[in-house]
Amino acid sequence: MRTKIKTILASDALDYTVTVKGWVRSFRNNQFIALNDGSCVSNLQVVIKLETDTAIVQKIASGTAIEATGTIVASLGKGQKLELNADTINILGECDNEVYPLQLKNRPSLEFLREIAHLRFRTNTFGAIFRVRHSLAFAIHQFFNEKGFVYLHTPIITASDAEGAGEMFRVTTLPPLQAPVNDKNEVDYNEDFFGRATNLTVSGQLEAELGAMALGEVYTFGPTFRAENSNTARHLAEFWMIEPEVAFADITDNMNLAEEFIKYLIKYALEHNAEDLALLDQRLADEMKTKPANERSEMGLLEKLRFVSENDFERITYTEAIDILRNSNHYKKKKFKYDVAWGTDLQSEHERYLVEKHFQKPVIVRDYPKDIKSFYMRMNEDGKTVAAMDILAPGIGEIVGGSQREERLDKLEQRMAEMNIPVDELYWYLDLRRFGTAPHAGFGLGFERMVLFVTGMSNIRDVIPFPRTPRNAEF
Ligand code: 4AD
Ligand code: MG
Repeated sequence: MRTKIKTILASDALDYTVTVKGWVRSFRNNQFIALNDGSCVSNLQVVIKLETDTAIVQKIASGTAIEATGTIVASLGKGQKLELNADTINILGECDNEVYPLQLKNRPSLEFLREIAHLRFRTNTFGAIFRVRHSLAFAIHQFFNEKGFVYLHTPIITASDAEGAGEMFRVTTLPPLQAPVNDKNEVDYNEDFFGRATNLTVSGQLEAELGAMALGEVYTFGPTFRAENSNTARHLAEFWMIEPEVAFADITDNMNLAEEFIKYLIKYALEHNAEDLALLDQRLADEMKTKPANERSEMGLLEKLRFVSENDFERITYTEAIDILRNSNHYKKKKFKYDVAWGTDLQSEHERYLVEKHFQKPVIVRDYPKDIKSFYMRMNEDGKTVAAMDILAPGIGEIVGGSQREERLDKLEQRMAEMNIPVDELYWYLDLRRFGTAPHAGFGLGFERMVLFVTGMSNIRDVIPFPRTPRNAEF
């Protein structure tokens, strides 16, 4: 039975026998192995006996998988309190260092590691990122479970476009070159697997609403697919989203839930991933040193996480946001690439100005113009804005998008007609408004954007194990 290195290092116990298994990070003086088994950032120093078979010693190199059995003793070397005095070493798998791309002597760049994403898990940085990602996923379920929400699995293959933005990946079994056509010379999806056109989901929200209107409080947490051709550091074609949906809640309840949720996740990671976050804090500090002064973030990672988890988010309306932006020196000096005018969507540069320069904390913007938001959002009294809310985070921009839903049948039908949303296909969504409608609200948190925020990484491709972006679906 193997003991995990994390368990060994967490205890002060000495003079007991253990077996460890892991991968060699480095091998010094034909005697000292730094062994990592993925359970924590730290390596265990394994000291091999001088009389160890040279055939074995020759096979020990960075990347080699080994098994070592021996006694845990106090270490005389600096940098570690314990080490393993190995009686036996077994080579589990050799690693050819002539061609192994991860010679950890010089620090490989994140860009290079993206090209070898199948091996990047073996670096300290990616080990830390994926342990933090795991913790956050676990904390999400814990948060909602503690509150009595029901975890609802919404479909991955669907016939609806929940966001009405038309950015969907088609799912079909029709032969691409000889697809059957109807009398209008269009592809006849009647002949397709489901007897209709289907796509990968862009959001589980509409189905989550069905659950919420009976179970009261539900959440989804699943993969989401968007065929938007955005090659930015914030967009993936396949990402994970958490979507709670709450009956009898309004937009304020919704903002409160989202803020509490984000703070809970940050605190969970601070508490459970201290070693990983310390490493990522140092990584970010090193990265900042390479940047020009005006691009450096003011706070270190740990400082930022504590600050955000302990302070109230700023709350403003879209109209106030536009005023702040138009009155800023940044705007007057024409430093924004995109114009700012009531009625147009906030661009990422505007969101980041509000959060990073103006308020220097997360900002919740509510009551957006109806024409830049989805059909399902509840119309406000003014007839111009809807009860939408976005949470903007420092360094990222939009991290949450949500709203109170339009629960009034006539208003919803009117909006769907105005926005050319097919009413017959969504009869089931409208039925909710026919049979015991009630106020309700929900939001979507982009999981990878949350992981970006907590790890202090700057490219979304570095916080999902296998990123899917335009022209990139390797591994
Ligand atoms: O703002 P969005 O599009 O909202 C919805 O999908 C709603 N149905 C949510 C709801 O009310 N239940 O997306 C929600 C969040 C965004 O704020 C962002 O964090 C993330 O999902 N997101 C993406 N993350 C990575 N790559 C993309 N291409 C993303 N698009 C959205
Ligand atoms: Mg949005």
